[in-house]
Amino acid sequence: MKTKQNITLTGDRPTGKLHLGHYVGSIQNRIALQDTAEKAYYMIADVQALTDNADNPEKVRENLIEVILDNMACGVDPKKTTYFIQSQIPEIAEMTVYFLNMVTLARLKRNPTVKAEMQQKGFGEDVPAGFLAYPVSQAADILFARATNIPVGEDQLPVIEQTNELVRKFNHIYGDFFAEVKPVLSDVRRLVGIDGQAKASKSLGNAIHFSDSDEVIAKKVMGMYTDPTHIKVEDPGKVEGNVVFTYLDIFDADKAEVENLKKQYTQGGLGDVVVKKRLIQVLQDFIGPIRARREELERDKAAVMKIVEEGTKKVQEEAKVYMKEMKKHMGIGYFG
Ligand code: TRP
Repeated sequence: MKTKQNITLTGDRPTGKLHLGHYVGSIQNRIALQDTAEKAYYMIADVQALTDNADNPEKVRENLIEVILDNMACGVDPKKTTYFIQSQIPEIAEMTVYFLNMVTLARLKRNPTVKAEMQQKGFGEDVPAGFLAYPVSQAADILFARATNIPVGEDQLPVIEQTNELVRKFNHIYGDFFAEVKPVLSDVRRLVGIDGQAKASKSLGNAIHFSDSDEVIAKKVMGMYTDPTHIKVEDPGKVEGNVVFTYLDIFDADKAEVENLKKQYTQGGLGDVVVKKRLIQVLQDFIGPIRARREELERDKAAVMKIVEEGTKKVQEEAKVYMKEMKKHMGIGYFG
């Protein structure tokens, strides 16, 4: 039973507070899609977070609420998007077991996203099996909900590709059941770090978080990587690779003024501080309301968790039905 519905599903691993990189990469698409999707899901991927944090469950538990607050404060609206917690849906784990039989160890080791993360974490051959296999579990996250549109950052593309391989393999063996899924990418695929590194990330300490105060935002912008050859105000400056301009391009709504500043900067005669001050204002205006909503939600965490509990209960019911259908389709629905 292929679905022709427009169902969206995404999630975050609760391993830290989210930041502007997440906003640009996927949160803005979550917000856009929740209005048009027939169903929209937001999953807190705590099982996935545990694949490399088995010995640190507190980290995952503590960050669970943080990613929920970040998403709700940004506008992933629980009235439109069903929030649920991955570990509370046993059918996802169950589906993962069946999918694991349709993927080889060699294929798991080839996934570029997993490879990069393994290198970053220094795992080598001692990688936890669950970590190596997380793309399979992620396929189950997506397919158990019959999701079709997946807003993700570009680093997740190989995981979506692996999901579609599993779809084809499953359909080939058991007959048509799952529909292939589509990643939904944003125009700006990746946000650079404030230090000029390719990617803003919490672990690199080069990201701006939704919980950052105006002072912290100002400090981070003042320390941003610009053009190291632009020393005196009258020197001509470079705009490419200049983080301040990269961020202005993304977050400043006044495109004409940004173009104007770029021209002046390139010609010489415009100091870094002037441009940075503008960006500070732009980011404070953007993050301010998000931070305020976040603080308001944080004052009643119990109410937030209640919403997630209700979402999870709804999904638990749906998952039971889906799983039964899938097992029947596989020919293992022994008792009807
Ligand atoms: N792997 C994603 C990340 O690290 C999180 C995630 C888990 C996810 N399951 C998902 C994203 C399903 C989209 C769909 O950000």
